[in-house]
Amino acid sequence: MAKQNNSFGVALFGVGRAGTIHFGNIIQRPRLQVLYLVDIFPKNCEQLLEKNYVPPGRTQVCSYENSQKVFDDENVSFVIVTTPTDQHEEIVRRALDAGKAVFCEKPIAVDHTRADQLFALSEERKVPLYCAFQRRFDPSMARIHDEVIQGEHGKVHMITTFSRDSPLPSMQYLKISGGIFHDCAVHDIDMVCWIANEKPDSVFVRGTARHPEIKAMGDVDTVAITLTFPSGVLATIHLSRHATYHYDQRLEVHCDKGMLQCGNEAADIVQTFGSNSVQGALPHFSFPQRYRVAYAAELDHFVQVLSGECDRLLVTRDEVNLVSAIATACEESLRTQQPVQFSL
Ligand SMILES: NC(=O)c1ccc[n+]([C@@H]2O[C@H](COP(=O)([O-])OP(=O)(O)OC[C@H]3O[C@@H](n4cnc5c(N)ncnc54)[C@H](O)[C@@H]3O)[C@@H](O)[C@H]2O)c1
Repeated sequence: MAKQNNSFGVALFGVGRAGTIHFGNIIQRPRLQVLYLVDIFPKNCEQLLEKNYVPPGRTQVCSYENSQKVFDDENVSFVIVTTPTDQHEEIVRRALDAGKAVFCEKPIAVDHTRADQLFALSEERKVPLYCAFQRRFDPSMARIHDEVIQGEHGKVHMITTFSRDSPLPSMQYLKISGGIFHDCAVHDIDMVCWIANEKPDSVFVRGTARHPEIKAMGDVDTVAITLTFPSGVLATIHLSRHATYHYDQRLEVHCDKGMLQCGNEAADIVQTFGSNSVQGALPHFSFPQRYRVAYAAELDHFVQVLSGECDRLLVTRDEVNLVSAIATACEESLRTQQPVQFSL
């Protein structure tokens, strides 16, 4: 993996919703240089560069067909993969084979066996492979985790999360998303297991499709997941593909000595008091706004690992595999309507 004077050349694959966020963070960091933007629609890359006033010649635009030169370029230290999920595995494998470190949007692959093969390759090539569970870097969620792990609040009784998306993702996105568990629930499953600090022993799911188009594609959009843990901790995850009142992201941990709660953030905190009612701002519209700080912090963390300032990735191979295996168990539980006993 090449690095020059502690600065890093980056190639970004996929300039859609997630790619645009990471691109915005890269160009704000002087130690990072976007050498290539790759997309099946190169025009989208050109528009992104123009919109961000990137001087001509600084970043090469490339179609996926012509992307071998990206992997051959020794100035590229790491690759960011923000293509649709079904494209991750191939790009991650090509990057690792070329000795590049990889920052990949979740999920790394469609199941934990395939993800694990990529982690094995990253260890063989001695380059980091990061799975972008950005909620770990959200200051409020990280604080809840740290306080619970330190035992400040006694033992955990119950962990509850709510994740309701906004806006409703496009049907085109949902069709190739990998399904609600691998695409959406993985963030919550990761958060719950990270805070519980153990592996669940069973998972039980009920789900329904309230949107006819989602039903027609064989997926669900409304889900309740219950996880039990050997210590006795119980967790529930509530998911929806669409909340009309903006992006709803909440976390609650009930412990012996009290309850920790991370509510929604709003764009502003103004409240208008009338004679009969109080009005305030809605939660943030969507993930780019809600997790703005977390996306930047996870990129900084990844770069610190590359530069040796931090000795290991916060999100580990075992944790990513566990989350992916639980997502698959959720699919089984939904299908069979039975609890799935879980061991990994
Ligand atoms: N962590 C998060 O909060 C978060 C949020 C959104 C999306 N994601 C993840 O990011 C990934 C992308 O999602 P999105 O919403 O940005 O999708 P998107 O459809 O908005 O963007 C995907 C982009 O990739 C391009 N593309 C498709 N195939 C490609 C290929 N082979 N090579 C290069 N470019 C290619 C598309 O043209 C498009 O520009 C998904 O895996 C998703 O799970 C994560």
